[in-house]
Amino acid sequence: MAANANKTLQTKDQKPALSAEQSAAALIKALTRLEARAVDQLILKELSSNVVLINQIGQYIVNSGGKRLRPMLHILAAKALDYRDSHHITMAAVIEFIHTATLLHDDVVDESDLRRGQDTANAVWGNAASVLVGDFLYSRSFEMMVSVNNMQVLSLISKTTTAIAEGEVLQLLNCNNPKTSEQEYLDVIRRKTAILFAAATELAAVLTDSPGNVKQAMRSYGLHLGTTFQLIDDVLDYRADPEKLGKNLGDDLAEGKPTLPLIHAMSVSSPTQSTVIENAIKNGNREAFHDVMEIINSSNAIQYTENRAQREAELAIESLKSIPDSKYKDAMITLAESSVNRSY
Ligand code: IPE
Ligand code: IPE
Ligand code: MG
Ligand code: MG
Repeated sequence: MAANANKTLQTKDQKPALSAEQSAAALIKALTRLEARAVDQLILKELSSNVVLINQIGQYIVNSGGKRLRPMLHILAAKALDYRDSHHITMAAVIEFIHTATLLHDDVVDESDLRRGQDTANAVWGNAASVLVGDFLYSRSFEMMVSVNNMQVLSLISKTTTAIAEGEVLQLLNCNNPKTSEQEYLDVIRRKTAILFAAATELAAVLTDSPGNVKQAMRSYGLHLGTTFQLIDDVLDYRADPEKLGKNLGDDLAEGKPTLPLIHAMSVSSPTQSTVIENAIKNGNREAFHDVMEIINSSNAIQYTENRAQREAELAIESLKSIPDSKYKDAMITLAESSVNRSY
């Protein structure tokens, strides 16, 4: 049989069919095009500082092609609630600044050297510069937020950044501890990742001065979507195409991070197999990647984690029941569905 027998036949003018992930991304892009441009312009403006190194590192990470998922999520949620003013542009940029600050810090803590397909800032400029520019982004984001002049916004974002810091510290405590439970793991990912997603969506309800049940619905959607997102991130650390992911596989194992694929594999494997994983976690051992991968595969731990992510995506969608129907709400539903099967 010809080598390309399984490929979809295409004529010259036909475009290849988009995957569910690509069409979700295209849909969100189309629905937020104007705002996305305004958010990017604001990000570039607010990055600028008369300290050259801040500009260099800031531009380097911001222009490196992140998905801009959280700011777009905030814009979608604001449009789903028919927001008519312009503070959502500021808040979207604030959320991306906070996300970027956490990435600068996270890559230092995780000793990662590849992000968004390029050397991490810590690999290029060192840990000290990365941590300090991360601090700059946090501070600048608070400066920007003050301009919105809304106490509820300030309160929500301050609580969010506190929770992210707690999540990262809790994770540090769990590192190299193979006894970390599924519940402890879920608590960490809720704080370090899901709470920023929840802030992105709840803020839309705050800006529109929506009633409590709408705030709650938006927050719940964000929390569940963010949990899906991190569960899949932890799957991708074992199983992605590294080119597409733009990060190195095996970083979690190298750091001895007890993520759900490992926690589940240990709970269902033979004692000998569990010991292999336990030792890899205790010693933070990238060399054990192949052996660990085999055990993960034979214990269906990837499937288990994906099922957990699927459940969270369903809960996210269910949370939106009380939000009025619109194409923006539909896009939020599509985003939750496609997050389970994302590849980068
Ligand atoms: C990476 O987030 C950090 C996690 C919470 C898993 P993203 O995958 O959204 O990173 P970028 O911004 O697209 O690079
Ligand atoms: C997410 O965790 C980090 C933050 C929320 C800051 P990871 O450490 O898994 O993220 P990646 O894989 O480095 O992007
Ligand atoms: Mg990391
Ligand atoms: Mg990761």
